[in-house]
Amino acid sequence: MIQVQLIKDLKQNINATKKSGKSIGFVPTMGYLHEGHMSLVEQARKENDFVVMSIFVNPAQFGPNEDLDRYPRDLERDTKMAVEAGVDLLFFPQVNEMYPQDGGISIRAGAQADVLCGASRPGHFDGVLKVVTKLFHLVEPTKVYFGQKDAQQLAIIETLVRDYNFPLEVKRVSTVREEDGLAKSSRNVFLSEKERAEAPIIQQAIQLGMDDFKINQDSEKAKQVTIRHIENGTSGKIDYVELLSYPDLTNNVSNNTSVILAVAVFFEKARLIDNLILNNE
Ligand code: PAJ
Repeated sequence: MIQVQLIKDLKQNINATKKSGKSIGFVPTMGYLHEGHMSLVEQARKENDFVVMSIFVNPAQFGPNEDLDRYPRDLERDTKMAVEAGVDLLFFPQVNEMYPQDGGISIRAGAQADVLCGASRPGHFDGVLKVVTKLFHLVEPTKVYFGQKDAQQLAIIETLVRDYNFPLEVKRVSTVREEDGLAKSSRNVFLSEKERAEAPIIQQAIQLGMDDFKINQDSEKAKQVTIRHIENGTSGKIDYVELLSYPDLTNNVSNNTSVILAVAVFFEKARLIDNLILNNE
């Protein structure tokens, strides 16, 4: 596996790969890898000649009171996992390599970022768009892989690619879960033993809410089912429970739109998100 920290070294490798006519699959991450990330690599491996992974804890997408400083990091372990998964090139730049100067041009997410995590984390998706735009230009991928675990992020990136004609294809990858249903996340390490035992209730609550929605087509009622189950079963504090159309993320849900039931819950040291998408397209 090729390992590079500098943009010039990355570009050299990308240029050579492109010249030889190979397709490039790209998996952007913030590291502290788990099986969720690995399933993106697995799909990229199947569908491309050359697989690039990036590991970059992107300061632009963290708010002032968020967990940038304590976001978990373990580059040595990540490197081993990337080798085992068949990554061809790992790009792990420093912050000043990605953002050598302040200011300049900002990218603003549209209305899709006004709800869910965008409402609780102002500017978060602008920061995500900033880094993925840079990474897409640097890696020049044929296909890029994003998890449905972060369904709003995925929807917003699909809009970026569509609206600005990025010459690449966005692939959606299903959420990978622990055996008890908890969605895998780098932040799960912050849960106490008690919270970890309670956390699978989030997914159960989402399923109950979605089952209710399928029967009654009433989003308010479905949300109440989910809220009640989380409040009764966990010590977490609900940030949001929303049922919206997907991927446009509006309240306009009807029989023939795909819908997402999405949840964010604060525990003592971690904010967990999860969702379920009902595909009606
Ligand atoms: P990160 O949280 O490291 O996630 C990297 C990719 O892995 C994202 O596409 C995310 O949706 C996916 N992923 C995380 N947990 C998953 C799971 N349990 N199952 C399937 N896929 C999962 O998301 C980011 O980093 C950043 O915002 C990034 C896109 C890299 C921009 O900085």
